[in-house]
Amino acid sequence: MLKRISALVLAAVLTASCGSGGGATSATSSGDDTITMGFSQVGAESGWRTANTKSVQDSAKNAGVTLKFSDAQQKQENQIKALRSFIQQKVDIIAFSPVVESGWDTVLQEAKRANIPVILTDRAVDSKDTTLYKTFLGSDFVEEGKKAGQWLVEEYKSSTDPVNIVELQGTTGSAPANDRKAGFLEVVGADPKFKIIATQTGDFTRAKGKEVMEAFLKSNPDIDVLYAHNDDMGLGAIEAIEGAGKVPGKDIKIITVDAVKDGMQALADGKINFIVECSPLLGPQLMDLAKKVLKGEQVPPRVVTEETTFTQEQAKEVLSTRQY
Ligand code: AHR
Repeated sequence: MLKRISALVLAAVLTASCGSGGGATSATSSGDDTITMGFSQVGAESGWRTANTKSVQDSAKNAGVTLKFSDAQQKQENQIKALRSFIQQKVDIIAFSPVVESGWDTVLQEAKRANIPVILTDRAVDSKDTTLYKTFLGSDFVEEGKKAGQWLVEEYKSSTDPVNIVELQGTTGSAPANDRKAGFLEVVGADPKFKIIATQTGDFTRAKGKEVMEAFLKSNPDIDVLYAHNDDMGLGAIEAIEGAGKVPGKDIKIITVDAVKDGMQALADGKINFIVECSPLLGPQLMDLAKKVLKGEQVPPRVVTEETTFTQEQAKEVLSTRQY
């Protein structure tokens, strides 16, 4: 009897040691090939964000990656808590879309000390120490701002009259708000006829876009152009413009960024004049990068998403096949 119990204990000990990472080739904390990824999302502020969340969740499922998903509700402190919880849970890899650019060094150092690699998706951090993350996958937001400015320059090339622009900025301190502003200014700033007469954050939401546009309209009777850092704020602003008895797309020209379905519909309907695409479909590339990182393969420090722009005519052509 005693011999049988000893044999059982020995078998149990051997099983436990094999399952705790004994496999020399496995880079995952579970010791098998199943990757556990902790993903901290910004929130659910826009159509873009909803499409991005779906892309990450679907791609994790397709790639056999176990996803621990956390929604930060647009608050940095929630994201920091989520990252710390992922570290405590010993996930294999962390991916996150930072709500703002600054203030990440401490928690990223904690991840590094715990030997958990980090991938930035969609938005950048301003950390000087680039060893704190393996790669950054996402759009070139400065380029997006430049494309918005280039359309405007072309649209008004034969006019010397002043062009009064109002700007709805994204979340204050976020990479897309900082960069889309900078890229746009770099282009339109070269010609003094372009004047930004009002600029304020609309936090990337439709409700705030409407509210801020209502205020812009009250204090500025001569608005020629609205530049909104995303479709949702532009769509909220359209409601405000129509509420003020003006015609969006005609009385006030509108440029937005993203190209989500609702934005593209408004573009096809003539209410928006030009959209710069920002693709939220980052999931498949994210899963590929995560697998490579965990296998110890080299990944590029920066992976830029390929994107285009849409005029009203182009929107009519592609609307029915738009994925998001
Ligand atoms: O970071 C990407 C931006 O965040 C999208 O343009 C915007 O819609 C979202 O909320």
